[in-house]
Order: sequence, then C-alpha cells, then structure tokens
Amino acid sequence: MVQEFDKVGVVGLGTMGAGIAEVFARAGFNVVGVEIDQAALDRGRGHVDKSLSRAVSKGKLTEEERAAIDARLTFSTSREELADADFVVEAVPERMDIKRDVFGDLDRICAPGTILATNTSSLSVTEIAALTDRPEKVVGLHFFNPAPVMKLAEVITTVSTSAETTDIVTEVAKRIGKTPVAVGDRGGFVANALLVPYINDAIRLYERRIATREEIDESVKKAAGLPMGPLTLADMIGLDVCLAVMDVLWDEFRDPRYVASPLLRRMVAAGHLGRKAGQGFYTGKDDPAEPQR
Ligand code: 3HC
Repeated sequence: MVQEFDKVGVVGLGTMGAGIAEVFARAGFNVVGVEIDQAALDRGRGHVDKSLSRAVSKGKLTEEERAAIDARLTFSTSREELADADFVVEAVPERMDIKRDVFGDLDRICAPGTILATNTSSLSVTEIAALTDRPEKVVGLHFFNPAPVMKLAEVITTVSTSAETTDIVTEVAKRIGKTPVAVGDRGGFVANALLVPYINDAIRLYERRIATREEIDESVKKAAGLPMGPLTLADMIGLDVCLAVMDVLWDEFRDPRYVASPLLRRMVAAGHLGRKAGQGFYTGKDDPAEPQR
C-alpha cells in the first residue's frame, strides 16, 4: 500500500514542518511544502537548506545525496498543489481556527482516498478529524523536535479512524525511519503528557528561585543522563507550544499538577517564545525570572 505512495504534502514549514518535509524527502518521497505566503515559504526552505547543509558538512550526506533530496522537494504557496498528493501532513500553528481553514481546504482539494495527518501537539485529533468529511482518514502523526533527529512518531487514532488508515500511517512512519507508537487521543498524548509538566515544574523551581536556570538544567542532565536540561528544552520546543500543552492538560483533567507556571504564561504573552523568537530562558534578558513589577 505505502509503496504506491509517491507525493507527500506538508502544510506549514515552521520548525516542525520543515523538519518533517526533510524527513520525507530523505526517505525517497516527493514532497511539496506549502506555506501561506512567499516570506514564510522562504523561511521554511531556509530551515530545510540549513539542516541539509549541516548534514553535508558533518559528512552524513554526500553532495549527490543532497542534490537528490533537493530534487524531490518542491515548495508552493498554493494548497491546490496538493490535489494529487497521496498523503498530507499538517504542521501549522496550534490554533483550531487555522486548522479548520487548512483541513477544510485539504478535504476539498485532495482526492477522497488521501490520508490527512496532523502534527498537532496539543489539540484534539478527534476534533480536527471532525472538520472533514473523511474522519476515518484523519490521524495524528506527531513528530518531536528536531524532527530529522528524534526517532519517535506518535500515531494518534480517534474513535473515527479506520484500521486501514492506522496500518498505512504506521507503515509510513517506519518507512521514514521513525519508531511509531500507537496512542489514543487524550491531552498531551503520551510523550508530552509526561514531558511538558516536567518542563513546567522546572520553570516553577526557577521562578521560585530554588536554583538558577543553569543549575536546574545541569542537575537534570547529570542526574538523569538527558541530553538537555528542561529550560534549554523549553526554549527549543517553543514556550507557546509548552503553554498550549499545559492548558490542554488542565482543560482535560482539571488536575492542579497541570496549572501552567505564571512565568511561562507571562513569557508567552510577551512574545518570548524561546529560540525561534530570539528570546527565552537563555536568550534575550539575562534573567527572565527577575522580579517583574
Ligand atoms: N535539525 C537537524 N538535525 C539536527 C538538529 C536540527 N535542528 N539539531 C541537531 N541535529 C543533529 C546533528 O546534526 C547531529 O547529527 P549527527 O549525530 O548525525 O552528527 C545530532 O543531531 C546531534 O546534534 P549535536 O551534536 O549538534 O548536538 P547534541 O548532541 O547536543 O544533540 C539534540 C542535539 C539532538 C537536539 C539533543 O540535544 C537532544 O536530543 N535533545 C532533546 C530533544 C528532545 O527532547 N526533543 C523532544 C522535545 S518534545 C517535542 O518536540 C514535542 C512537541 O510536541 C512539543
């Protein structure tokens, strides 16, 4: 079934979408990356270029392999380009109004058999599926940042997903070199339901001045053998994404463990979203937890 797949669409080429487009192109699929306007498209293409250049300079890809990957990647500002896509992954911002617009278009544009996947990290896949006339062909395919590196892909199924869709998406995930894990549609799925509250707890420790950001990060790295501390990871994931996951967990379970740290909420309100914004726990202000009066 998957062998017949040729053309894959990726809608949204931010940090995650660009990485996802790269992953599919590296695995031999022809990929069309779609963005909302030319400036966003150029930024997305820039993310992919940078990542491929890094792989070449590290000797992980030859120039020939890179050229072949580039030849499989095309970019467009028109969703209509996805009319003959076999599989589409959506990776646009985490807002239901934007998802509604994208899935409405995809449902109209793509052939009835095309499977539509969302990379949402915080919204309900069931609700997204219900935006379409093909809920049995809508799944979550949740990648982790950086998408070209992290091996996990959560395959999120809903009460509407058909067994055939689940099987195909699981096989697709394997074909692109990921380890698929089947997960139900609950707030945070599995990985984020564990990871993001841990990050939130680290932010709470930091804002209560229990330790410096460096001490918190170093402690966790050295204690648990993790590659990054929680505050560095928050900057990389994006503080807006972390907050969105916390708020979904709170909405879903109303458990005090899931109340977002006030500092996290204030930093997001200020646009200090981490690495992508040039301002986060380690960029911009020296000490984001200093008293704000
Ligand atoms: N794009 C592509 N490749 C990248 C990359 C990027 N942004 N960042 C790093 N890499 C590659 C490097 O090229 C290198 O590849 P190689 O081993 O083939 O040479 C490899 O990753 C290791 O990179 P570095 O040597 O530069 O640096 P590190 O050893 O410090 O690794 C890291 C960087 C892979 C990001 C590592 O620190 C890590 O695993 N961090 C934890 C990441 C994590 O937990 N992610 C999950 C976040 S949760 C999430 O995304 C869900 C969402 O819904 C919120």
